[in-house]
Parts: sequence; C-alpha cells; structure tokens
Amino acid sequence: MKIAVLPGDGIGPEIVAEALKVLDVFRGEGVKIETEAGDIGGVAVDRQGDPLPAATLALCQGADAILFGSIGGPQYDTLQREMRPERGLLRLRKALDLFANLRPAQVFPELAEASSLKAEIVAGLDIMIVRELTGDIYFGEPRGIAINAAGERVGTNTMVYSESEIRRVAHWGFQAARQRRRELCSVDKMNVLETTQLWRDVMMEVAPEYPDVKLTHMLVDNAAMQLVRNPRQFDVIVTGNLFGDILSDEASMLTGSIGMLPSASLNAVGLGLFEPIHGSAPDIAGRGIANPLAQILSVSMMFRYSLKRPELADRIDRAVRSVLQQGIRTADIARPGEAVASTARMGDAVVAALRAQ
Ligand code: IPM
Ligand code: MG
Repeated sequence: MKIAVLPGDGIGPEIVAEALKVLDVFRGEGVKIETEAGDIGGVAVDRQGDPLPAATLALCQGADAILFGSIGGPQYDTLQREMRPERGLLRLRKALDLFANLRPAQVFPELAEASSLKAEIVAGLDIMIVRELTGDIYFGEPRGIAINAAGERVGTNTMVYSESEIRRVAHWGFQAARQRRRELCSVDKMNVLETTQLWRDVMMEVAPEYPDVKLTHMLVDNAAMQLVRNPRQFDVIVTGNLFGDILSDEASMLTGSIGMLPSASLNAVGLGLFEPIHGSAPDIAGRGIANPLAQILSVSMMFRYSLKRPELADRIDRAVRSVLQQGIRTADIARPGEAVASTARMGDAVVAALRAQ
C-alpha cells in the first residue's frame, strides 16, 4: 500500500505526525505500508511557488491513498487567488475527480457533554453527510471580478451541475444509506435555484433503483435549522458542494469538537484523500496542543474506503473509543478543570490502545 502524505500548513504537520505513529504500529505487525511525503498548500507556495506542485500531483496519482493534514494561514491571505493554499486542495480534488466527500458526524458518548447543544439532543447522534466535491459554484464558469458598463466592479460565480455529476453522487448517497438506517435526505434550494431543481429531479430519478431506501428532500435553510433543532432525525444527507461545506461545519459542532471529525474524498475507482474536516488552526499551530483524533480517524477511513482493510479501520476506531473512555482529553474536548493532554500524548495513547488489543 502506497500512501502519499501531505501534512500541509498550521497544525497539519503536528497531527499528521501522530497519524503516522498509527501506521508504524501496523507496519510493526507486518502490514506493508509505504509512505512518501509531498508539499501542498502554503508550505508548497513557500518552497516551490505553487500550492499544488507537479511533483505532489504525480505522487498522489501514483498512490493508493492520500493522507492530508490541513492547509492555509493568515500569512497567505493577501496572495492572489491562484496562489492561495486552498487552490492546491481544490485543484487536487478536481484533478483526481474526488467527487464523493463523506463526512460522518458522530457523537462519542464520552463527549456528549462537550456539544454546545444539550446532551439529550445530541446523544447517539450519527449522521453521514455525502457532499459533492468537484462541481457547483466552487468550479462553475464564468467566475471572477470584472468592471461592468457602468464602471462598477461586479463579482460573478456560477452554480452549475450536469445531471451526470448529480447522478454519480446520488448513488453514493443511496449506497451509504443502505449500509445504515436506509434514510436519505437530499438537501437543495429548489424553490429558488434551477440548478438544485435539477438536483432534486435527478435524485428522484435514481430513487427507484433503491426501493429499500427512503428518500426525502429538504430545503437548505430548513436543513440548517433542523440540524440544531432535532439533528437525530437525519441518517444520510446528500447535497451539493457549497451547501455541504456549510452544513458539515454545522454538523461537526453538534458532536462537541470539530477536532474529532475525519472525512473521505473518493473518486470512481476508489482512490481517496483523507483529511480532518477542521482547518489548519493557525492560532494554535506549533504549540503541541491540537487534537490529532480527526487525523487519526482519517487513517481509519483510509483503511476502510481506499485500502480495503476494514479490520484495521475497526481497530483504530476502537482504540480511539478506548482513549476517550480512559478520560484522555486534548484542550478542545476537555471540560473545565479536566487534565489536558498534548497532541503527542493523545497520539501515544492511541498507539498504546492499539498495541493492547
Ligand atoms: C472544506 C474546506 C475547503 C472547502 C476549503 C479549505 C477550500 O472548507 O474542506 O470544507 O471549502 O471545501
Ligand atoms: Mg469547509
């Protein structure tokens, strides 16, 4: 198994280092894992003048899976758009056609108190957001800022989806639902936007192929409200790139900490990029206090979805549960007065739990 490792910026390198400890445990048990590191994001701009250097893209194209940290930082905010760290990630998603983005939001029983919602609202929460990742207003043309006839600046982005783009992610949504409670909620804004009228139409066209899955539809504004009103009504949510970006951040907070949530971005042949859904957290970077669990759980998703070693994924999931049960907490998930573990201490605890299995 060849894994491209892209630590990126901010806390990325610190938490990726902890995830690599997990790979070392499996290597020690004889699992054949090769890793090779590449630059992406701000660090790639600094070193190579490009947020996605050709060598990094080639490394990813030749790998079985990509383990990604995080990108971005305030020092890059004034760069022109093509040089921004985010462009590196967006270009990589597009180049590898990673259209299916799985973002689970699960409340660990040990952390139900850490949510900003009441524990009784979120206890047992288990949502899977399937976000389309290579289309929509993120990539639509025309785009840009131009001067109109009146000499005024006008900003343009284009929300666009073809039916084939919608259909292929619809299948991911239905199939994810099939592995779970068989309820799929498609989120759109069809009362206003034609693009999402087509989204809804295609969802309904695909539905007969999955008679065992119950398909419902919800407008995105209502979905944002329902997520904080009664989040447990959702099983799988399928939605477009922009709505999925926003709703997945919202859903993450229900679980207590954005520092706990992994994600998988997959293409049609199973190549995937695995990253925490949180960003580079420049405010805490370099201090050794970031929570590495989202990154470690991203390794679990990598074994499950790209490397097809679900038993290793299960072991990581169990090890993470076990450290939480032991009461080990990084600052983001600690309650006032609770002892706080460093990034490395948390990673070491997961390693110890894996070895003890
Ligand atoms: C995410 C992030 C990215 C996105 C940024 C960093 C480009 O917010 O993965 O959710 O908007 O997709
Ligand atoms: Mg986001």
